[in-house]
Amino acid sequence: VRGSPTYPRRGLKEGCQLVQKSLVLLKPDAVQRGLVGELISRLERRGLKLVGMKLLQVDEALAGRHYGEHVDRSFYRGLVDFITSSPTVALVWEADNAIILVRQTMGETDPGKSPTGTIRGDLGINIGRNLVHGSDSPESAQREIDLFFQPQEVLVYERNLDPWITES
Ligand code: RTP
Ligand code: MG
Repeated sequence: VRGSPTYPRRGLKEGCQLVQKSLVLLKPDAVQRGLVGELISRLERRGLKLVGMKLLQVDEALAGRHYGEHVDRSFYRGLVDFITSSPTVALVWEADNAIILVRQTMGETDPGKSPTGTIRGDLGINIGRNLVHGSDSPESAQREIDLFFQPQEVLVYERNLDPWITES
């Protein structure tokens, strides 16, 4: 039922994990290069369900919280300068095993090591301009979604073609 807040959540299924969410960022290089539509399209075509979306300017504080795990790395300053340099698109995608599906679709961190057919392998060259971010665990996803979205901005809705994507 459209807009129904009581949409039943699927629970554990045989051989499957719980429905997962993943936080995806289309980084400033993706926005500047006009690849937002292409990248959303690739994730949609994979079958992932879009449940949150916004265009925002990441500030220093948000960048620091999002990339806190990398604070001691040599690339940290460049990474924060880059992510705050221009608008970013934040997305929340949902699927069984969404975390791994998104990371498969993105490819390796370094576009130069990413297979053809992946976002980074097809569209990127440099590790510091790798177009996308995707959560690396369910715990990271929850933390990152809470950084970028209010709870009511992550929507619950029925998608009528789900039976054509996932066997229940
Ligand atoms: P992401 O978090 O953006 O999805 O990427 P990831 O898991 O594949 O890579 P991660 O190790 O978490 O690194 C986060 C981002 O930092 C930049 N990076 N630069 N110059 C470098 O050696 C280097 N290493 C990482 C990349 O933008 C990477 O996506
Ligand atoms: Mg990461």
